[in-house]
Amino acid sequence: MKNILVIGGTGQIGSELIMKLRGLYPEGNVVCGYIPSAAPKGELLESGPAEVVDITNAVQIAEAVDKYKVDTIYNLAALLSAVAEARPQLAWQIGVGGLYNTLEVAREKGCAVFTPSSIGSFGPTTPHVKTPQDTVQRPETIYGVTKVSGELLSDYYARRFGVDTRSVRFPGLISYTTLPGGGTTDYAVDIYYSAVKGETFKCPLKPGTFMDMMYMPDALRAAVEIMEADPSKLIHRNSFNIASMSFDPEILYNKIKEHVPEFKMEYELDPLRQSIADSWPDSLDDTCAREEWGWKPEFGLEEMTQDMLVNLRKKLLVTA
Ligand code: SER
Repeated sequence: MKNILVIGGTGQIGSELIMKLRGLYPEGNVVCGYIPSAAPKGELLESGPAEVVDITNAVQIAEAVDKYKVDTIYNLAALLSAVAEARPQLAWQIGVGGLYNTLEVAREKGCAVFTPSSIGSFGPTTPHVKTPQDTVQRPETIYGVTKVSGELLSDYYARRFGVDTRSVRFPGLISYTTLPGGGTTDYAVDIYYSAVKGETFKCPLKPGTFMDMMYMPDALRAAVEIMEADPSKLIHRNSFNIASMSFDPEILYNKIKEHVPEFKMEYELDPLRQSIADSWPDSLDDTCAREEWGWKPEFGLEEMTQDMLVNLRKKLLVTA
């Protein structure tokens, strides 16, 4: 039986991952751990247990693990890259202090832990095209610093204490359910909302800014599959490059325009996001994930665009 605690359960990834996990493990408890300012609602609240679990509070993590006999923790609490630059101390407390709390609880109580890393764990001195699995990681954002620290700390807990830690480096994630909270890749979500609402999109990044992106269903599958993977086949743990598509704002705009011909985009650059994006890879090489646990993406830009537009039209009609 899988009893799972998802910390950061109401965020962009958590809100969808919980619904997927509840479908996959109906005999177990999939607990939505949330902070009071972001309480679960609707289906997320009604379909299973929820507890206040602030990742900076180790006691709350331990109590939820005991109460639901949790064997696996998905740690999805984070400040994304752009908002983290405004609050670097809090970003560290959540990203590293919170991870430490989680790993300590996992060590004491025998839980496996998934903590995503990111394309943000790389920096300007990393090879930018087809970035290798094992390469230079000298990020210049606090977000990236927390992610590299998290990779190292998670590997340390695996080696030193036998905690079953695993991770993937997520690209920018695109979804229609819950908005991302202040990342550099958010434009690739916001642009679909503008297209569906009939608004001109103000793009914060300049043409030619390539980054890896992924549709949420692929990202959720990756998070489940890495935790289900045969440990004897894993040479790496924290963290695996995964990839499905790489594009710049022009490619994305032109793809959406094929479906929404009247759609307009203008550039209104955000210097902070531009400098962060410039320091990140254009595309990752995910060969190790493919070889060690069979990673394979299903959605490309066309499939994602069709699905985003259909579902956002439904969502915005319903909530209009
Ligand atoms: N989506 C994240 C961000 O833009 C990167 O992992 O901050």
